Amino acid sequence: SLVSPPPTGQVLTAEELNVLYEGIKLNKVNHYDYILTGYCRDQSFLEMVVDIIQGLKKANPSLIYVCDPVMGDHGAMYVPEHLLPVYKDKVVPLANILTPNQFEAELLTGRKINTEEDAVEVMDLLHKMGPETVVLTSTDIPSKNGDQFLVALGSHKIVKPDGTKTNQKIYMDIPKVDAVFVGTGDLFAAMLLAWTHYHPKDLKMACEKTVSVMHHVIKRTITYANEMAGPGKRPSPAQLELRMVQSKADIENPAIIVEAKII
Ligand code: ATP
Ligand code: MG
Ligand code: NA
Ligand code: MG
Repeated sequence: SLVSPPPTGQVLTAEELNVLYEGIKLNKVNHYDYILTGYCRDQSFLEMVVDIIQGLKKANPSLIYVCDPVMGDHGAMYVPEHLLPVYKDKVVPLANILTPNQFEAELLTGRKINTEEDAVEVMDLLHKMGPETVVLTSTDIPSKNGDQFLVALGSHKIVKPDGTKTNQKIYMDIPKVDAVFVGTGDLFAAMLLAWTHYHPKDLKMACEKTVSVMHHVIKRTITYANEMAGPGKRPSPAQLELRMVQSKADIENPAIIVEAKII
């Protein structure tokens, strides 16, 4: 079937998360260079995450917090609505790098995105909320190269040669694959963390490498899935599991397949 049964398991509570963090502090291993957060559906858990990140930033003031503000997609929220004000008021202000999709960016700013100009304004508003780097990981903005591309945009704060500050914007066309994958948002955020580490002042390069990794992983996955499904059949979710291990070499050293444009 194309519909997966719901996952099973236990949800960690805010207090249980705090106990883990206390143990990390007691063992003096609370010095991190990066922290990455993603899907969360409980308000008290998210508020505990905020407290912990504040603690980690005190322990290492140059810690970089990458926040994937996972709240929904394509016009619908899939986390409780009361998480939105927590993201707006507490989480996003702590974030250094933010990776919303179009819908999440619209929720955070209260502004609808229809055009590239709208996206630029929304990214500037998100900068004002805190993060120095913002990437809209997917949008419905029509690509000038046709509907086989999905548009992603990025923006980061830079200092120009004359010493003045500006937000540099980039635009990317990503080749679309006709399938729905699970885990691509997580992989995007993780790759952006890694590639901004190697290219901290070059968002264009970091995004080109990130999107290229995505492309290689997705291509390998869809090729395999179609082969397994057989001619004319739609692959199952199991067959569409991202081919991560098989993509190790591409993840480490992706051939660049997308050129980001500075806009
Ligand atoms: P999140 O789920 O983290 O809130 P998101 O909605 O942007 O964010 P995805 O929709 O998974 O996450 O998109 C992230 C990236 O995954 C895209 O930038 C693109 O590189 C890749 N991707 C996902 N689905 C496809 C697809 N069908 N074809 C091509 N690329 C895709
Ligand atoms: Mg999406
Ligand atoms: Na995202
Ligand atoms: Mg996602």
